[in-house]
Amino acid sequence: MWKVQLFKLNYDDREVKAAADVVESGWLTMGEKVIEFEQAFARLLGGGDVQCLAVTNCTAALHMAVLAAGVGPGDEVIIPSLTFVADANVVKLAGAEPVLADCTSEDDLTMSAAGIARKITPRTKAVIVTHYGGFACDMAGIVALCRQQGIVLIEDCAHTPGGEYAGQALGTFGDIGCFSFFSNKNLSIGEGGMLSVRKPEIGQQLRYLRSHGMTTLTLDRHKGRAYTYDVAQPGLNYRMDEIHAALGLAQLEKLPAANARRGELTALYRRLLAGGPVRMPFANTGDTLPTWHILPVLLPADADRQATMARLKDMGIQSSIHYPPFWGFEAYSHFKPDDTPVCAALINRELTLPLYPTMTEDEVRLVVDSLHRALA
Ligand SMILES: Cc1ncc(COP(=O)(O)O)c(C=O)c1O
Repeated sequence: MWKVQLFKLNYDDREVKAAADVVESGWLTMGEKVIEFEQAFARLLGGGDVQCLAVTNCTAALHMAVLAAGVGPGDEVIIPSLTFVADANVVKLAGAEPVLADCTSEDDLTMSAAGIARKITPRTKAVIVTHYGGFACDMAGIVALCRQQGIVLIEDCAHTPGGEYAGQALGTFGDIGCFSFFSNKNLSIGEGGMLSVRKPEIGQQLRYLRSHGMTTLTLDRHKGRAYTYDVAQPGLNYRMDEIHAALGLAQLEKLPAANARRGELTALYRRLLAGGPVRMPFANTGDTLPTWHILPVLLPADADRQATMARLKDMGIQSSIHYPPFWGFEAYSHFKPDDTPVCAALINRELTLPLYPTMTEDEVRLVVDSLHRALA
C-alpha cells in the first residue's frame, strides 16, 4: 500500500536464528539470554556500576520507576508537555499528579532545566525527562537542578538506546533510565524494555517490583541455588522472556550502525528540506550523540496538517504525529495549553516523516518531493 512507510524492521536471518535457538533450548523465560542481554545493554551504557533490568516494555519500566521513586498520593511529577502518554499515565496510576513542563524552543523540542524549575512546587517528588526523537535534553542543567532540589530524576529513554550527552550514555544521568524496544524503536523486539540504574538499593527495589517481590527466581531454583522464596514486598510480573532477549541481543549488534545510518538519512533530509516551507528542529545538537529515532518537522503555521497527511497518503507516503497534545485527550483535558505556550504553538504543526535504517536515499528524496508537492 505504501511507497514509503514510516518504519521498517531491520531484521534478517540473525533474528530468526536467535528466536529459533531459544525455542530449541527448551527454556523460555527468566533464563540466561535475559541476563546476557542485560549485561550487554549495561556495556552499551558504559558499564561500571550501571545495572540493567530487562522488562516487558517501557511503560512497565516507567511504572516501576515511579513506584521505586516512592511517588504516591499528594505528589507531583513533572513530565514533558511533548511526550508519549505513558509518562502521564504511570504517574496517575501511582496516585500522583503529572505536571507539564514546556518545550525549550521551536528548535529544541525537549524540556529545559528552566522550564522544569518553573513547575517545581513543595509537592514535586520526581521529574521524568524524555529525550524526544532521540535528541538529548540539557542534562547538565537538569541533573544539577534535581540534585539541588532533592528531586528524583527519571529518564524516558524510549527513543535513545545508544545516545549520549557530553560523552556519557543517556539513561545514566538520572536515578533510573527507561528504554523501549517496541517494534518501531531503534532496537526492535516487538514488546520489550530495559531499566538502567546505578544505585544498588534502587536496583534491588526494581528487582522486587519486576518479579512479585520474590527473593529468588525460577532460574535460581532450576540451577539448585535455592529451594523456595520469600516475598520481601509486593511486586508485579514485568519480566522479559528469553525469545525477546535473544532478539534484543541480535538487534543490539546492529544498533551502532543502524543509529549511524539514521543520522546520515536525517542529514540528507536536512539538506533537501533547507530553504523550503517546513522547519526541521534540532539543527544544533552540540556535544551530544543523537539516535535519530524519528524525523519530526514543523509545518508552516497556516498549513492544514491533516490535509497534508492525506495528500501524502495519496502519494503513497506514510506520515505520523509525535505527539497529540495532552489537553486533547479526555483523561487529560484539564491541562491548559497556555501553561506550556512554546509546546502549544508548535504541537499541532508537528509531522513525522519516514525514517528507518534500511531506507534508501531515493526514498528520502521521494518523501521530501512529495511533502513539498503536498504543501504547494
Ligand atoms: C517517549 C515514550 N515513552 C514511553 C513509551 C512506551 O513504550 P512501550 O511501548 O515500550 O511501553 C513510548 C512508546 O512509544 C515512547 O515513545
